[in-house]
Amino acid sequence: MTRVVFVCLGNICRSPTAEAVFASLVAGRRVADRYVIDSAGTSDWHRGELADPRTRACADGHGVAITHRARQFVAADFERFDHVIVMDRKNQTDVLALATNDRQRAKVALFRSFEAEADGDEVPDPWYSGEFERVFAICRRASLGLFDVLERARRDGSD
Ligand code: 4NP
Repeated sequence: MTRVVFVCLGNICRSPTAEAVFASLVAGRRVADRYVIDSAGTSDWHRGELADPRTRACADGHGVAITHRARQFVAADFERFDHVIVMDRKNQTDVLALATNDRQRAKVALFRSFEAEADGDEVPDPWYSGEFERVFAICRRASLGLFDVLERARRDGSD
């Protein structure tokens, strides 16, 4: 089983999109039973809320349903998940502050580091900018790259 948690600040825009897009990719490849996929926020500002209506409308338009309820990332998530995939460098700093050893720190990666020909290393925050379509497209491309890396690791017997 490969366990992945996507992390952003509010857990109502970027990481629920990443979670749903990656889950839809995994389902399409008929390997959903091999994955546990979740998302969380470094803040607790939106705890219990559905994703932002603009985030859900954008994903719906692409045939992807987002049903996640926001929750805060906690230190215990480092033991529940194999991969902690962050949207930006601030998320990275914030989750690393909760890690207690190098094995946990090694689980953290920027989502866009998996994107082919990425034009940046952070997923932009659409909360103010309104770039929901751009965020969705980034999540699609980065999910493809992440999926390839995880499936290759599984075939190599290292995950
Ligand atoms: P997210 O976007 O981190 O992609 O979920 C945000 C959502 C809410 C806020 C900031 C970013 N906020 O300031 O409440």
